[in-house]
Amino acid sequence: MPDKKVLVYTPEQITARVAELGAAIRRDYAPLLAEGEQLLAVGVLNGAFIFMADLVRAVGDLPVEVDFVRLSSYQDRTTSSSEVVMTKNLEKEIRGRHVLVVEDIADCGLTLAWLLAFLKKRQPASVRVAVAVDKRARRETPVDLDYVGFSLDDGFLVGYGLDYAEKYRNLPAIYEVVTPAG
Ligand code: IMP
Ligand code: MG
Repeated sequence: MPDKKVLVYTPEQITARVAELGAAIRRDYAPLLAEGEQLLAVGVLNGAFIFMADLVRAVGDLPVEVDFVRLSSYQDRTTSSSEVVMTKNLEKEIRGRHVLVVEDIADCGLTLAWLLAFLKKRQPASVRVAVAVDKRARRETPVDLDYVGFSLDDGFLVGYGLDYAEKYRNLPAIYEVVTPAG
């Protein structure tokens, strides 16, 4: 049976919001970066790949370098397992750098809390977090989110990089999947 999907954010809404986040990031970081220094955006694969691509193009003339980690706390299911596994590490040295984590969703908060602890051990100059969507209702581990695209309570979302069992990442809008089993 095909999954039932309900439109939540249109591509136009996403584009407009990402432009606002990009402008805020540019405004906040421009005074922090020294001459010749670049912001290091760290995207969390796979979910953040589209948000990351849009966000780094929305910061105007702010110099940005990119790196990626791959983390997994979900196994093809709509429930979070309690473990975070890093299957791809950073490739850049982050000590003394201004780091912006770019993640698709903050849900329970476990993944971001794990990554922030991992990054802070490496003594960056600063770490901030940008998420496309903040799902607040299931938060267990508190995390400070500096740039939030959209906030909602709950619902399983797909599209704009987000998947349900590796499907729908390529959809340009964000939908809620309404599964028959709930
Ligand atoms: P957390 O550790 O519960 O905050 O899990 C966050 C991770 O779970 C995100 O990076 C997403 O990859 C995934 N996730 C959480 N909610 C959704 C959703 O609604 N759709 C797709 N992936 C989700
Ligand atoms: Mg993810």
